[in-house]
Amino acid sequence: MLEEKRQRIAQTVEYLNNRKTINPKIAIVLGSGLGGLTDKIDVVDEIPYKEIPNFPVSTVEGHKGTMIFGRLNGVEVLVFSGRFHYYEGYPMDVVTFPQQILPGIGVKTVILSNAAGGMNPTFQVGDIMLIRDHINHFFTNPLIGPNDDELGPRFPNMSEVYSHRLVKLAQQTGKKLNIHLQEGVYIGVSGPCFETPAEYKMFYLFGADAVGMSTVPEAIMARHRGLEVFALSVITDLGIIGRVEKASHEEVLEAAAAAGPQVVDLIYNMVPEI
Ligand code: HPA
Repeated sequence: MLEEKRQRIAQTVEYLNNRKTINPKIAIVLGSGLGGLTDKIDVVDEIPYKEIPNFPVSTVEGHKGTMIFGRLNGVEVLVFSGRFHYYEGYPMDVVTFPQQILPGIGVKTVILSNAAGGMNPTFQVGDIMLIRDHINHFFTNPLIGPNDDELGPRFPNMSEVYSHRLVKLAQQTGKKLNIHLQEGVYIGVSGPCFETPAEYKMFYLFGADAVGMSTVPEAIMARHRGLEVFALSVITDLGIIGRVEKASHEEVLEAAAAAGPQVVDLIYNMVPEI
């Protein structure tokens, strides 16, 4: 099983190392509606997932399926336009496959973005929340199974999943750009249902500020493989005690698209400092 996994990763890494002509140290995973970042990239090569050995194809509306090598504000980056969600039916190993190949192609830092429901009563739709910490509420973990000690530890330390250095850099960049940033705890759930009012309340009482259906497995895998992680949520709907809104996928995409330019601005200005 370990040997098979190693070979799968090695095959994909070899394909990408042979194909790529630049060497990004930063990878960016685009969440729902945040595709606008791709407009800012000087594209060097765009590879459809279906051309990449062992890469699955994402099925959700609002998520494309390409890997883009290019320059963002002069900095070499690798952008995943389209991610794999657990609710689509992919096993965790597939959900986190992009993070598993990153060390082999020389990436050191991964930026994850997502759309999330806000539970903190100070939040508004359209807010950007820097993720300071997370709660894994998927009832599973991408590291379950035999551990490959050569890739990462059996019991990874989770005391600083989201780099404090990068949260600070984001805060400083936000101040310079006059972008208001929230900071908080993201709870990751399987979905695909949005939460009931009772669930939003429970998650807020757990200590979470926002809830979403991605990011946590990817962040766990990235940390296991020694990558530095930065993540942010766009608050697309509210699940605040006493005033839960009826969230729909359309509203989520709309709100994420409206906040998109600010997220793009923030990331664009952060990358040269990473
Ligand atoms: N819950 C879970 N996932 C989400 C939400 C939500 O309210 N909004 C966007 N993604």
